[in-house]
Amino acid sequence: MQRVVIDTDPGTDDALALLMALNSPDLRIEGITTVGGNATLAETTDNALRLVDHVGAGRDVPIAVGAERPARGSFSHAYHVHGADGLGVDLPAATSTAYSADAAKFMRDRALAEPGRIAVIALGPLTNVAAALDGRPDVAQAISEVCVMGGAVEVPGNVTPHAEFNIYEDPWSANAVFASGVPVTLIGLDVTRGTSLHRNGGPRWFQGTSRSADLGNHILANSFRERADVQEFFLHDPLAVAAAIEPELLTYRSAQIAVVTDGEERGRTVASYGDGPVKVALGVDAGRAVDVVRTLISN
Ligand code: BDR
Ligand code: CA
Repeated sequence: MQRVVIDTDPGTDDALALLMALNSPDLRIEGITTVGGNATLAETTDNALRLVDHVGAGRDVPIAVGAERPARGSFSHAYHVHGADGLGVDLPAATSTAYSADAAKFMRDRALAEPGRIAVIALGPLTNVAAALDGRPDVAQAISEVCVMGGAVEVPGNVTPHAEFNIYEDPWSANAVFASGVPVTLIGLDVTRGTSLHRNGGPRWFQGTSRSADLGNHILANSFRERADVQEFFLHDPLAVAAAIEPELLTYRSAQIAVVTDGEERGRTVASYGDGPVKVALGVDAGRAVDVVRTLISN
């Protein structure tokens, strides 16, 4: 069983990714760390607490609160994609509260307590992950892998022609993570754009009557209702969780990744292939990957 800390900014596709991880027999969630991004930090944290309370019944999943803003400036948020408050669906108010107010320390402590055994799945801007690694080569060595949803290496971006949202929001932290020496798997738009659920597949994209299937179906239905022009819901963050469970769903090339921090190309992920700490996902068995997502949420 792979033990993971999930760093996230829920976020509709983050929520699907969390449902998968909560249901997966192959993952044990050591904790969830929240970051601003799709919505404010207060909203993403509240969304994570509500989701875990609602579907994680009885499971002890600590939630640690992270960064409110990126290394410089502020997050721009994506309510137009994810809906009001970042999720767009009404979940009962959370009864639990956050376990810690310091996501970076939480990540560091978990990694150092079990060197080599904890992976991080990063589904938002990389601010918390960079803070955990800052000046700490021991932490970079202790984390087995950071599986990042982010980047657009050989394909156009989604917030600008050059940049994917998570990397664009905090390119400084992304650079710091890629240069830290920690092993990174980069699940970018190169592969996530190939995995989606189509509007016509609803209203029961996920089967069964579990809270998880029900919430997944609500999130998709609401997302398609709000955005009449959109035909496909991209499984960006869910694919990163699928990759952590079943890496062979994807094909990779090793690289060094440099991120452009300023100007028109801000957030662009530039690969130099060859030796390097980053495994860039460039191919995906989309049919199998979508099956993994559907099966875990239908659970
Ligand atoms: C990424 O940006 C966010 O809006 C999604 O949650 C995903 O993490 C896709 O570019
Ligand atoms: Ca996200």
